[in-house]
Amino acid sequence: MVNEPDTGQPDGSRVDAIVEVVDVHKSFGDVNALAGASLSIPAGTVYGLLGANGAGKTTLINVLSTLLIPDRGTAKIRGVDVTVDPGTVRRSIGLAGQFAAVDEYLTGHENVEMIGRLYGLSLRDARRRAKEVLDRFNLVDASNRKVSTYSGGMRRRLDLAASLVGRPEVLFLDEPTTGIDPASRLDIWELVRDLIGAGTTVLLTTQYLEEADQLADRIGVIDHGKVISEGTADELKDSLSANTVRLRVNDDELDAARRAIAPIADYREHPGGLLELRAVNGNQTVVDVLRSLDRDGIEPIELALERPNLDDVFLALTGRSTDGNGNSARATDEDNR
Ligand SMILES: Nc1ncnc2c1ncn2[C@@H]1O[C@H](COP(=O)(O)OP(=O)(O)OP(=O)(O)O)[C@@H](O)[C@H]1O
Ligand SMILES: [Mg+2]
Repeated sequence: MVNEPDTGQPDGSRVDAIVEVVDVHKSFGDVNALAGASLSIPAGTVYGLLGANGAGKTTLINVLSTLLIPDRGTAKIRGVDVTVDPGTVRRSIGLAGQFAAVDEYLTGHENVEMIGRLYGLSLRDARRRAKEVLDRFNLVDASNRKVSTYSGGMRRRLDLAASLVGRPEVLFLDEPTTGIDPASRLDIWELVRDLIGAGTTVLLTTQYLEEADQLADRIGVIDHGKVISEGTADELKDSLSANTVRLRVNDDELDAARRAIAPIADYREHPGGLLELRAVNGNQTVVDVLRSLDRDGIEPIELALERPNLDDVFLALTGRSTDGNGNSARATDEDNR
């Protein structure tokens, strides 16, 4: 089932949740960046927060990582309220922010080692740990170069490496692959999958529907500061009542096929004898179409049920379409930056 985000317990908390957000509000002047956001993430799972520019993703990450105090509502990490005991929260989290927070004038190694020191590791441990994470992120060769010489993808990887140096139980990744070329994006997905394998609880935000689909156990769609729907990728897709049934026939049977399917569902026609039926119950429509074709002696070349993709889900939930890369077509804040 696709749920309206439900916190489970009467007091709004959920026992097994490592990250727990209940009805969080945050305004900047007139802008309600968060307007009653709620979500909860069980230990060792990946939650994908999917939303367009300005939906409130970074604001929520900032609240959870103690960088912003919410106006109201509660946010807890491992049961600890982020506003009551931010120090404890900081020790258990790692953050790779939307804009890489690495120091241009230090080398890759120095950056990661410094973060390790900030996490309270001894110099020796910080050095060893920096080597480990740089190795894991394929940055060893570049580790003694100044970051100012790094490519965008390398900076991203360095930022991710730095976020892991303190062995956080909970990791926040704010748009880990935005602005990254497709090959590096696949690398980063691999690395995130590794982390998941290691049991880290991850909250990642993304504008890419495919990314949420690939990496997340559960997906929440955030819009205007509120999580408006939640579920697995499959559940979200199932939540769309309409499916598309593709039927392809030989040109000389096209007329007969049109007559056969017209009583069953509305359809659109495409070149090459392709007819696309809009079906409320896809499986039933496939059966109906097959029977009807059979009755009229028509042999389909292709008859298939197409499940909606996450872009369709996004459109259905927010009323806005995406540009095919998963970005909302709405005017973006980025344009004003
Ligand atoms: N410090 C701030 N001052 C004023 N407005 C802000 C501030 N931070 C965020 N906002 C506004 O709050 C809203 C939510 O912003 P937020 O950065 O959380 O969105 P986002 O989902 O992370 O977007 P993006 O995908 O572009 O990173 C936006 O309208 C933004 O302009
Ligand atoms: Mg953001």
